[in-house]
Amino acid sequence: MLTRRRFLTRATAASAAVLAPRAGLAQDDAPRVLRAAASRAQIAPPGYPETALWTFDGSLPGPELRFMQGDRLRLDVVNDIPQPTSVHWHGIRIDNAMDGVPGLTQPPIAPGETFAYDFALPDAGTYWYHSHAQSVEQVERGLYGPLIVEEPDAPEVDADIVLLLDDIRLDQGGEVAEPFDSGFDRSHAGRIGNVVLTNGQTAFSREVRQGDRLRLRLINAANARIFELGLQGLDAMVVALDGMPLAAPEPAAERLVLAPAQRIDLIADVIAGNGEDAFVIHYDRDGGYAQATFPVSAGTAAARAPVSALPPNPDFPITLAGARTATLLMEGGAMRGLSGAMFNGERRDGRSLAEAGMFWALNGVVGRTVTPLIEAALGETVRIGMANDTAFAHAMHLHGMHFSEVRADGSLGPLRDTLLMAPGETREIAFTAHNPGDWLLHCHMLSHHAAGMGTFVRVT
Ligand code: C2O
Ligand code: CU
Repeated sequence: MLTRRRFLTRATAASAAVLAPRAGLAQDDAPRVLRAAASRAQIAPPGYPETALWTFDGSLPGPELRFMQGDRLRLDVVNDIPQPTSVHWHGIRIDNAMDGVPGLTQPPIAPGETFAYDFALPDAGTYWYHSHAQSVEQVERGLYGPLIVEEPDAPEVDADIVLLLDDIRLDQGGEVAEPFDSGFDRSHAGRIGNVVLTNGQTAFSREVRQGDRLRLRLINAANARIFELGLQGLDAMVVALDGMPLAAPEPAAERLVLAPAQRIDLIADVIAGNGEDAFVIHYDRDGGYAQATFPVSAGTAAARAPVSALPPNPDFPITLAGARTATLLMEGGAMRGLSGAMFNGERRDGRSLAEAGMFWALNGVVGRTVTPLIEAALGETVRIGMANDTAFAHAMHLHGMHFSEVRADGSLGPLRDTLLMAPGETREIAFTAHNPGDWLLHCHMLSHHAAGMGTFVRVT
């Protein structure tokens, strides 16, 4: 089933050994330091030099932050990179002042400075953290990591494994390829990498035993790649999407689609035999490749109880009737273009926008920052109909609150924080405005956001 990967995109298992050990953070009351700084790691195949990166605490990905539901996260983020930065805690229904959006919720953290993040973790689930400043460059260079919030009564598993997926674009010398502001990336599908990584490694491997029950936490940290995944030697149920438990677990589909920033939690039983390998497979147009390999050794192969639903997180019921509504028209990009749009308070034509590196508009506005798309009172339900009138897919992410899709038959989909919109699609989301503040709604193809595809909602 698996084929050999192309040059550069596959390496031997040897490269897995050179990463710095991951320093897990203990949960106690003292704030810890999370340092953004330059580091190096062997990402490219052997024979290439190490790659210069920017990482948190010297490792790619940054340290796995693990807390218990209801804990407070207290971290002093120290900026030792040569650009202003900030940290966004993706998917956490967070206090607005801690959301990490420079210019909207906090000033950027200047080089040499520190920002104290301190907030409650109301929900259990799989989240992640990443730079939210010049993110096309800073996330690409490695400023991201997993944030796991455990259920006080978590399902029993033999191993809980985070699989943080990424792709990175390296040049022929093995360095992160510049520029980061290419007009092509900004106006097309975004910055797609040529080296695919799991937990910072091109050949991630983890030993398991036959019959083990695994919790696999898949996170897409790529700038723009939509991962299409499959499983081999694993019998899996999906138990959560974007951190939020499904009301009832669902058998994993043959192909799992993971858009940028999305997460899927699986409970997977190892059904491959002793001496075989189980895989998470990454499919692209050339075939299927090992995204993660699980060499299987002998185990008990005990019969397993059916997978039950994860304990629910706090619920903010959505009431569609009488909801406040808005529509969001997504326009621009290559093939369609923008004839013109508002940018920095002035009407500009498409050519002058392109010269400024701006290619996308939401409701005729490029990178809205002054007046919100919609204002809602605390507790109101908000419905936003989104129309993707572009030739590209977009991963639309709402900060601060999870939403449900309103399906064509009027039923509500599972709670998510990021929705993948195919070209030409019209979809509607609904959420309860339970969290006060200004919350970004933007495309998580990071070059698209940088090129205008962002707006925000206000909850008062
Ligand atoms: Cu994952 Cu606005 O971010
Ligand atoms: Cu987009």
